[in-house]
Parts: sequence; structure tokens; C-alpha cells
Amino acid sequence: MLTRIHHVGVAVADLDESIGLYRAALGADLVHREVNEREGLEAAFLRTGDGEVELMSALRPDSPVGKFLAKRGPGLHHVAFGVTDIGQALADARAAGCELIDAEPRMGMHGSLIAFVHPKSLGGVLTEFVEI
Ligand code: CO
Repeated sequence: MLTRIHHVGVAVADLDESIGLYRAALGADLVHREVNEREGLEAAFLRTGDGEVELMSALRPDSPVGKFLAKRGPGLHHVAFGVTDIGQALADARAAGCELIDAEPRMGMHGSLIAFVHPKSLGGVLTEFVEI
């Protein structure tokens, strides 16, 4: 059911500059770029072999990513696992005592169902499930 690490999310100050850096330094290909007005972020997905990196920049300082950048600076934001049944993954995480940020799956970018688990539940790492 849990398949692999699907992507890692990295908060960045300048999305264009970071895309250029990841392309030049890692040879990563830009596969998708999307503005999410509701979440106040713009994200770019770059393929890195079997997985992806999600670069995220803030549209507004008061958005969640804007607050993250103000508080912690650029860096690792979340780790996302691919799951075949996101409802079951959430039920299992809840049963294991994890605090869920999303009690129900919601539509994320890429048109995939996603849900987040609170970082305090999994070693201080914000964790995302992506249904694949
Ligand atoms: Co993500």
C-alpha cells in the first residue's frame, strides 16, 4: 500500500532561481508548475530519476509557506509517500496515534488526492500521502 517516497517538498525564496539551480546542478526536468491561490503558494515539480522534488515559494508572506520561510528559512518542508489507498493510509496513521492535519483526503496539485500528517507525529517531519 505504501509504495515509495513520492517527492520531497522544499521551501524556496525564489522559484525561478531554484528551478534553474536544480536543473543545472542535478539535471532535474521540470514536469509541472502550478499556482495555488488558495494555499498562497506556487510549486514546481522536478523529476529526479524515480522521484520528484516539489519546490514551493510563497505568493504572500501570510500564507503557510510564507510563514514557514519567515520562521525557518528555505529548506526541507515535507516528505510525501505514495500510497495506493489514501483512506486506508490515513486510518492506519490515525490508529498508530498520529495527528492528522487532513482528516479526509483532498485534491492536491497534479490532480492527486493528498493528505498531511502533523510533523510532531512523525519525527518532526511534515508528512504527505499522495494517492497513486
Ligand atoms: Co507535496
